[in-house]
This record gives sequence, structure tokens and C-alpha cells, in this order.
Amino acid sequence: MSQLSKDFLWGGAIAANQAEGAYLEDGKGLSLMDIVTAGKKGVSRRFTNKIEKDTYYPNHEAIDFYHHYKEDLALCEEMGFRCFRTSIAWTRIFPLGDEDTPNEAGLKFYDDLFDEMIKRGMQPVVTISHYEMPLNLVQKYGGWANRQLIDFYLHFCEVIFKRYKGKVKYWMTFNEINSVILMPEIAGVVGRDQDDFLLRSYQAAHHQFVASAKAVTLGHQIDKDNQIGCMVLTLVNYPLTSRPEDVELAEYNMRMKTFAFSDIQVKGHYPRYVQKYVERLGLHIQIEPGDLEAMKEGCVDFVGFSYYSSSVATIQKDIEKTGGNLTSGVKNPYLETSEWGWQVDAKGLRYIMNRFYDRYEIPLFIVENGLGYNDQVNANGYVEDDYRIAYLKAHIEEMKKAILIDGVEVIGYTAWGCIDLVSAGTGEMSKRYGFIYVDRDDLGNGTLKRSKKKSFDWYKNVIASDGENL
Ligand code: BG6
Repeated sequence: MSQLSKDFLWGGAIAANQAEGAYLEDGKGLSLMDIVTAGKKGVSRRFTNKIEKDTYYPNHEAIDFYHHYKEDLALCEEMGFRCFRTSIAWTRIFPLGDEDTPNEAGLKFYDDLFDEMIKRGMQPVVTISHYEMPLNLVQKYGGWANRQLIDFYLHFCEVIFKRYKGKVKYWMTFNEINSVILMPEIAGVVGRDQDDFLLRSYQAAHHQFVASAKAVTLGHQIDKDNQIGCMVLTLVNYPLTSRPEDVELAEYNMRMKTFAFSDIQVKGHYPRYVQKYVERLGLHIQIEPGDLEAMKEGCVDFVGFSYYSSSVATIQKDIEKTGGNLTSGVKNPYLETSEWGWQVDAKGLRYIMNRFYDRYEIPLFIVENGLGYNDQVNANGYVEDDYRIAYLKAHIEEMKKAILIDGVEVIGYTAWGCIDLVSAGTGEMSKRYGFIYVDRDDLGNGTLKRSKKKSFDWYKNVIASDGENL
């Protein structure tokens, strides 16, 4: 038997800030991603303090999903999607983040969006915060390093849990929560050159853990059917050699960069290895009375995660490096790399699924996986993305082995950037992930016209056959 069950949630994923555009429409406020410039491979994106005249900000219009979502969801329905993952732009609901009253036009947009998904047979899967906090919360409060953010976030959660009750069942509290330490700027913690930057980053992480746990408890109180997960970026790290020091380092990296975050949210407490680590750093994180109890109470229902690539660890110096998601790593001589230097490792998906499931024995949800590629449209206006099909096929095969052979419980699989969108890391459009091509380039030129790539029919067939025809 090589099919998955009929209720397996096949689908695709996007994030509001990378797709919607309409960055000031219907009362939306400025979010952190609205002041991030375009970059490219090897050139970092820049956070500007305000919108600079004559600077291009790719997220402002993105792919204009805000006005194209009906057409986009119709194409997803044609592929047979059973779910669709997106985020709710916090700034559409609370433009500044600290208001009492939400913006009705923003709430209405997501009502319409979720209704459209449901009408087309897709369960909405919602990330509450996907790198897009209100800019005001960064500039006025110092981002997540400030404890008041917990209350602002919970107010946002309460409003959306109540409003979309009965429409949305699957939620994730923070996209790639480990980014708060890997790239604290995404959590609004700025000033890398300041002495207290590390302390503020860890304090921000604590606030997100408390906020996430309280959101889980609140979400369950508002609707007992809600399934609320964490979302962790998986940084799979293998030892380069069998040298014990390499094995030790790889395991250390796995724990500190990935498992620490899921351990805290699944088990509801700081594991002793985390406590010891923070002690060694000499950081005095403010933990208020009730925080640890709240974390214990708000354990997540499932482990959502993104998986793109793996890297290796070694104590050897002067070794070849390669790129990666939010981090760079050491090159694995056995793996190919994408144009952006991300190593392609399908077996790593089965590996991490088993590591998670052995550790927690709760369902997993693969909410991001895919290949960023600079697709070229041929003379017939078509993208023949056999490389993407090969990547996804290999990963889905490994996922199936984890489910069917190893017995790992999995809720679903949502391919990242099912419609081409703005890259989070580089701001490029040319780093494409979609089954659906969007005519727009890195400078914002193009008609925004949507068209099917070769992978579109392939994925349709995968879903129709419950994963059998790969
Ligand atoms: C994940 C993020 O880290 O990776 C997405 O959740 C992001 O927002 C995706 O787009 C792919 O990364 P990139 O840099 O290729 O867009």
C-alpha cells in the first residue's frame, strides 16, 4: 500500500507579507516587512527606519494576492488542494498593534478569503504571526523584547479566534519561532552592535514562548476544536565525519537551533539543557510569576515545521561553506545545492520527521517544503520545471516512508510558495517556488498574470492519487 489516507491535508502555503501586497489598503498599517528593501543572492535585504523615497520595497505590491485571491484559489482548487496555509497580516487587523478596536475592513478581508477557501474545498491553515509585526510595535516598544507585546499579541489572537471560529481550525502561533534567536530583527529586536542585544533577543524569545502558550490556552477556550501548533524551522545537521567531536557538534546544533524550540512548546517547560545554556551565557532573563505555569498549560497540539535542506557540522577549520535558510552551514560533499546554495536532501525530511516523532509522539504538519529556482518561461510561455518535480517527488517519497513504514503521524503537507511570491530571504521574485507562475520580476515589472507550470499537473495528479503517482 503506497497511498496516504483520504483526509491527509495536501495543499500549499504562502504568507501575507510575501503575497498580498496592497500594503496600505483598507486601513492596513505598516508592518516590519514593509520597510525591508530588495536584496539578492549574496546581498542582504536592508531594514530602513521609514519608507525611503526612490527605494524599491518588493513586499508593497508583492503578487497582489489581495486582489487576485479568487483566481489563485480557483487554480489551487483545480490542483485538488485540501488546505491552504497563509498568515493573517497583523497590521490589517491592528494597524499599529496597540489599539483596542480592530479594523473591520481587515477582518472582513480574511472572512472573505477563508469563505472562498472553504467554498473551494480547502481548510484554511493560519499562521498568526509570520514575520509581519506592526512597525509601530518595533519603533515604539522595542519589539518582542518588551513584555507588553504579549498582551498586544493576545488581544490580536482573541479577536481572530472569535471572528473565525468555525472557519479556521488549524493555527500556528509564530512562524519559525527559532528565528527570534537566529535573526532577532524579525522579532523587532534591533541594534546588533549594542551590548544588550543578546539579552534582548533571549528576552524576546521568552516573551514569544509565553505569548504562544497563552494563545494555545485561549484558542482552546474559545473553540475546543481548534488545533494549535508551533512552527519550527528545521535545521538538520549531520556530522561531517565519524569523529566523536563532529558527532557531538552536530547533535549540539540540532538541539540548540531546532529542538530547543519545539521541546519548549511541546513539553511546556525549559529543558535543563536550555537552562544550563542560558546560565553559561550569563544572561538574566526576566521571568515573571505565572510565566512558567502558563507555558505548562499551553502545550501545542501538533508540530508544524518547515524543511528545505540540511548541512553538516565539523570541528575542522577552513572547510567549504554553503548557504541555508536564515543560517549558513558546512557543505555536505554528497549533496547537490540549489542556485542559492541550499543543499538538497530529501532523506533529511524522513530523518527529521522521525526525530520529532520519537521525541514527542504527537502529530506533525509539514507546512513548508520546496525548491527556490529561477524559472525561465519558454517560447510557448510555459515553465517546464522538471527540477522542481524531481525535488518534490523525492521529498514526498521520503515523507511517505516516514508515514507508511515508520508510523509517523502527519496531518498534511503544504508546498511552500505554491504560487510564486516574494522571497523572504532575498526579496527576489526570481527565487520561485510555485506550481503557478506569476509574471513579475525583481524590479516590480510585469503583468501579474498567472499561468500553470509543468509541476501544476504533476501535483494535481499526486493529490488525486493520494500520493501514489509521484
Ligand atoms: C521560510 C519562511 O523560512 O522559508 C518563508 O517561513 C520563506 O517565509 C521560505 O519564504 C523560503 O525562504 P526564501 O528565503 O527562499 O523565501
